[in-house]
Amino acid sequence: MLYPIFEFPGVGGGMIIAAIATFHILPCHLATGGFWMAWYLERRGHATHDQELLDYIKRFALLILIFCFVTGSITGAGIWFASTIISPRAISGLIHNYVWGWATEWVFFLIEVVTIYTYYYTFGKVKPKTHMRIGLIYAWSAWISMVIITGILAFMMTPGKWLETGGFFDGFFNPTYWPQLFYRTMMMLAISGMFAALLAGFMKSGPTKTYVIKTAGRWGLISLSLGALFAVWYYFKLPANAHETLSGVPYDQIMFKISLGIGAVMALYFALLLTGREILVKPVLALLMIVVMFVGIGGGESVREYSRRPYLIPGVMYSNQIVAHDLEAKGIKSEVTRYQEEGFLQNNYFVPPEWRRIDEKNYMQAGMLLTKANCVICHTMEVNGRSSLPGLVTEMGSTSASELNDFLETMGEDYNFMPAFSGNPQERRAAAAFIASIVPDNENEPPTAEWVVNGE
Ligand code: HEC
Repeated sequence: MLYPIFEFPGVGGGMIIAAIATFHILPCHLATGGFWMAWYLERRGHATHDQELLDYIKRFALLILIFCFVTGSITGAGIWFASTIISPRAISGLIHNYVWGWATEWVFFLIEVVTIYTYYYTFGKVKPKTHMRIGLIYAWSAWISMVIITGILAFMMTPGKWLETGGFFDGFFNPTYWPQLFYRTMMMLAISGMFAALLAGFMKSGPTKTYVIKTAGRWGLISLSLGALFAVWYYFKLPANAHETLSGVPYDQIMFKISLGIGAVMALYFALLLTGREILVKPVLALLMIVVMFVGIGGGESVREYSRRPYLIPGVMYSNQIVAHDLEAKGIKSEVTRYQEEGFLQNNYFVPPEWRRIDEKNYMQAGMLLTKANCVICHTMEVNGRSSLPGLVTEMGSTSASELNDFLETMGEDYNFMPAFSGNPQERRAAAAFIASIVPDNENEPPTAEWVVNGE
């Protein structure tokens, strides 16, 4: 049974989650990667007694402490909040499977919080060796939190054997787990390189500054290159359906190209940093590069999102939270089949009682509810909205209610990225009538109430 639908007019709920998630990735990848770099630099700082370098690291730690821990936790909670209202059933499904995964992650997160404060406030007050150990504890625990969360993220792309067994680790160590873990590990180091360059811009000129610039460049270039290799591996591990969507949906293609292009721009920037030229880390330029990188992350995350369409949990739950297939291991039954036979409205508690049975008076409202329950997670209902339903229908050219009814009937088979319609034939006609009514300047005769209710 579904929860009431959350609609974000013109933009779509998916876009809201995507925007928050992109903001989240920037601080959290820096938080996980940054301390490997800090540790590396601190070792050198102590070895060469370079106070300037040590001061730089302290500032770098402060950046992570403030930027990552404030924006990272706000956006992290934001993702939970937004997903809970937009896709409550997906979150519920994930919690039921992975609550211990998250609990473990939070333990490591707690270690991170404690060690980063300790690290920052013991700077110069404890033995260098001890201090570096604290940094290393942070670096490991932050990375381990990535090791854990990646299992859950990858599960949402490719649940693997879990679909047969329902086992925790079968879903966790799924086909895209390792490529994704290695890829993200490299990305966290590249992102840290970018922030290291930004902070280098605030140092006074001299050999230490040059050294930091070159290190950021080397660090970034190596991890980005390895990251690209892992990305290729990741790509080939994706199911055929994801590859088809990538070649068939223009938006997905554009996002893919944007992320590739920006990867190349970043590689170029890192390569230039190898020259150690100070002009490259002028705050305006470095900040611009971070914005560019941010757009690239957005592109990459959109591709990831599109790759699992039409599913939230591939093989089980559609993006619109309707259970798509039986899952014997968990005793879950397909809802699509049931709704297609028994009807959607009858079987969902939140449907107002007066709309449960379609008649001459309520068919438009019922049609609206059915359309939103089925489609609003991916399409907006406004003419100029993002992935606008009326817009797409107009482009498709089948704008009469009866053509739309045919479209809805075969939607799940004809499009690999859209779910099958959940509703019985009468409900399908009501949805078709509603969709026809939101198409601007629709020249077709509106359907008769008789047709919607009785099919003739
Ligand atoms: C899982 C996400 C998803 C859901 C749910 C979804 N769609 Fe789509 N739909 C897409 C994508 C992706 C496209 C490709 C165009 C784009 O990128 O916006 C698309 C395209 C379309 C098109 C254009 C098809 C063509 O051949 O030009 C129509 C019409 C459409 N959807 C109608 C619907 C209707 C009606 C529903 C609900 C019953 C629905 N969609 C549910 C993702 C979805």
